[in-house]
Amino acid sequence: MRRDAGGGFTIGLDVGTTGARALLVDGRGRIRRRGSAGYPLDVPRPGFAEQDADRWTRASVLAVREAIGSSAASVRAIGLTGQMHGAVFLDAACRPIRPAILWCDQRSERECEEVERLVGSDRLRRVAGNPALAGFTAPKILWLRRHEPRAFARTHHVLLPKDFVRLSLTGKMQSDVSDASGTLLLDVPARRWSREILEALQIPASWLPEVRESPEPAAKLTESAAKRTGLRPGIPVVAGAGDCAAGAIATGIVEPGLLSLSIGTSGVLFADCARPTIDPRGRLHAFCHAVPNRWHLMGVMLMAGGSLRHLRDTVFPELRRRRDGGYPAIDRLAAGVDPGASSLLYLPYLCGERSPHKDPKARGAFVGLALHHGRAHLARAVLEGVAFAMRDSLEVFSQLGIAATRVRMTGGGARSAVWRQIFADVFDLPVDTVAADEGAAYGAALLAAVGAGTFPDVPSAVRSWVQARPGARPRPAIAAWYRETYGAFRDLYPSLRPSFERLASFSSTEAARDT
Ligand code: XUL
Repeated sequence: MRRDAGGGFTIGLDVGTTGARALLVDGRGRIRRRGSAGYPLDVPRPGFAEQDADRWTRASVLAVREAIGSSAASVRAIGLTGQMHGAVFLDAACRPIRPAILWCDQRSERECEEVERLVGSDRLRRVAGNPALAGFTAPKILWLRRHEPRAFARTHHVLLPKDFVRLSLTGKMQSDVSDASGTLLLDVPARRWSREILEALQIPASWLPEVRESPEPAAKLTESAAKRTGLRPGIPVVAGAGDCAAGAIATGIVEPGLLSLSIGTSGVLFADCARPTIDPRGRLHAFCHAVPNRWHLMGVMLMAGGSLRHLRDTVFPELRRRRDGGYPAIDRLAAGVDPGASSLLYLPYLCGERSPHKDPKARGAFVGLALHHGRAHLARAVLEGVAFAMRDSLEVFSQLGIAATRVRMTGGGARSAVWRQIFADVFDLPVDTVAADEGAAYGAALLAAVGAGTFPDVPSAVRSWVQARPGARPRPAIAAWYRETYGAFRDLYPSLRPSFERLASFSSTEAARDT
């Protein structure tokens, strides 16, 4: 491959939940090669989610080797990103003591109450920017102390997933402010570990890595990591970012007014903020952004694309085997139904919800089901229900003074023209897409290009690399109609909450009977 005129290549490496993914990107932001390698997600008990951290490293090495091809000599820097919130517990020799506990693990609900009590709910929101959620890192550390005291006694360090891979690539214990924000141990406004929270939770500060700003070229590739990956020793590894911030960088969210909407299994609505903007009610996540001295606000719904996949698997099982996953066929059916799905509403809380309801017991529902509804209505209601649930987060953004003028949609959901139009009409905002829809790994490669000196800062790199593609425009009459329908949707969760509570108590009775 010819050497790139725009300043060599960078690698973006994403240590994801299902596998590692690497991109080789040239100085102008063009993707030259991709590499990937998967690993399993272990569910030792219902609600638990673990991974063997060494497999992340092995898969990352394979993904990087595949991505660099014969261009190793031209790679100038690596940027890391990955699944957030996971806890890797290391002993004195920096070896994992037990499998890593992941972001989607729900075991630490009791420890969340403990974190809220020890730190104080109000202080926790002000300092860490967030309430205690079972997915976040701090409650996992308290869980280990209560349930595995021997492992806890051997613990010398706790790292986030991508930072464990960094340790094996560079020998350094480092993190970045955006990923560290998801631990509940960072002072988010001050962008450093919070001594107050660490003392309240009795977690030694020495367990944590140093934190850097995302584009900083903070460490160098070791000789042994260079041999394993095929790269040159000594190239910089920039601090990087959690996958949400890196994904938003890849979408160009570095200025106010633009929101990114990422629809994968989960749905993430993300805004850049010039100041730490904390929701006192903890409905949205307030984290440091991957842009120095900027913050972000984020609403996370758990089952966005996941709702559509569930519908396909249960209602359209014959479409599963299609090479395109059957989604274009479902889109065509949904497009044939009028907005409002003939008064059918869908609630997408298939495994509880984070934003804005923060309710692990919430469940999904079709409401208004009538004899004339067929599969096409169900499909349209699911697409609309996900958009209404994301609008719940959009409403909180506006209550907190974040004004949105445009949305950039990414992820698998952005490929559906019908869904893009539904979001434009439900949000009453233009919904664009981006030319290189490559997710967090692309954002990490961009941060690496800044760290390597190709650009002076992240916004300049974004201006050069990220191109928006015009997507859907809101249609006034339909947007007005959806405003009414959204009102009906918004009433449903508070009315159904007592029923969700009761249903959850039935399942715990069943579980008790089974044991
Ligand atoms: C963000 C979150 C997920 C994980 C997994 O808060 O929990 O996006 O980072 O990708």
